[in-house]
Amino acid sequence: MTASSNDPVPGAPGTAPTDPADGAPQTAGTRLDPWFDTYAERAHGMRSSEIRALFAVASRPEVVSLAGGMPNISGLPMDFLADMTARLLRDRGSEALQYGSGQGEIAMREQVVEVMRYDHVHAHPDDVVITTGSQQALDLVTQIFVDPGDVVVAEAPSYVGALGVFRAYQADVVHVVMDDDGLVPDELERTLRELAAAGRRVKMLYTVPNFHNPAGVTLSAQRRPQIVEICRRHGVLILEDNPYGLLGFAGDPLPALKSYNPEGVVYLGSFSKTFAPGYRVGWAAAPHAVREKLVLAAEAAILSPSRLSQLSITEYLTSFDWYTQVKSFREQYHERSQAMMSALQEYLPEARWTVPEGGFYTWVTLPEGLDAKTMLPRAVTNLVAYVSGTAFYADDQGHNHMRLSFCYPTPQRIREGVRRLAGVVRAEGELVEMFGTTGAAPAAARTIDTPTPDQS
Ligand SMILES: Cc1ncc(COP(=O)(O)O)c(C=O)c1O
Repeated sequence: MTASSNDPVPGAPGTAPTDPADGAPQTAGTRLDPWFDTYAERAHGMRSSEIRALFAVASRPEVVSLAGGMPNISGLPMDFLADMTARLLRDRGSEALQYGSGQGEIAMREQVVEVMRYDHVHAHPDDVVITTGSQQALDLVTQIFVDPGDVVVAEAPSYVGALGVFRAYQADVVHVVMDDDGLVPDELERTLRELAAAGRRVKMLYTVPNFHNPAGVTLSAQRRPQIVEICRRHGVLILEDNPYGLLGFAGDPLPALKSYNPEGVVYLGSFSKTFAPGYRVGWAAAPHAVREKLVLAAEAAILSPSRLSQLSITEYLTSFDWYTQVKSFREQYHERSQAMMSALQEYLPEARWTVPEGGFYTWVTLPEGLDAKTMLPRAVTNLVAYVSGTAFYADDQGHNHMRLSFCYPTPQRIREGVRRLAGVVRAEGELVEMFGTTGAAPAAARTIDTPTPDQS
């Protein structure tokens, strides 16, 4: 199943906004924002997520949040990091606090090349661009490839932060279905054929092959070369986003898509999940010519990525046993994932969910007729939070789904959260049975869901 998102954006130029009171067109003078008519067209689609308001409530301690994508960094060696940072500033402060290279420090890029070997990627440090989190790499790649109206093909569902970037560059996102083995090659082939027949310009496939956010599934070993080959035949660049690859419960990841066709894939990595997101260091490994454009775009955006962060990470990677730390994260997340799986089995057997082999998330399908988006206020009132499936589609799909994350709460809190959630689902189910609906109609508005860091 594919879905395109080319319905009009409410409030965009050409669709004069109306006063909610009398339906008359608003003038600049009656609006709260005097710059309303001055914004670029792309800014009119930018709205904060409608669920953001709930997150102020959801972050209260009495609420069990199964919504956040925050890594559990409490296991990091804080004393070591404090000493390391003091030493770094004392010995190399004038280097660490200075501007640096737009492409990133050479020592950092060399270490990134070593880290990517776990994904069977054999790159050269020249091919790597250090970015402010992989989120900035997503932005830069989209900026250099996507013109308004170009198609980006993406999994259904897709990472909310990537959808926000695609929307900001006015891409038309076309979703392709996944199953328990990840993106379905036949569906990708069919979608690309249909788009070609319709004369649409497909700029790239955006995919998260390992421990998908939000779906929790992993692209099987067998499908990886098939996906690469389909994109190669159709001349479609692959944007492979892999922040969770090293967090597999059973060990190191399957070979990256990039390992099958280095020239056809831009690979994104990050230290946010395997070390700490506060440093904001990620990277793109790209074919040479693409890398040159990425550096120009990065320099225009930020001059250079934080040198202090890069030097801190290179120091951490060389002077601490970072891989043992990653293994300990794996064990911790595995334990939490098992707590969530068994709680779902015990409290919510009427739902379906994916069984992750790593990462932070599971994707839950609710019993027929239930709408996760309209149910969310009731859930928060009952002191449990999740992210509605609708956040992860560029169109209005996903009402019957929710993303649950197990990365941050303890196993005990996860069990309690799922128990509360089950109560909410049951109460909502009774309403549906009685009245055939829970009342609120699905929202038809297209907005850019700009995620809070907690949601991402
Ligand atoms: C799939 C995916 N890509 C990219 C990011 C961005 O991560 P960062 O910018 O911290 O590297 C996230 C964060 O949650 C993510 O889940």
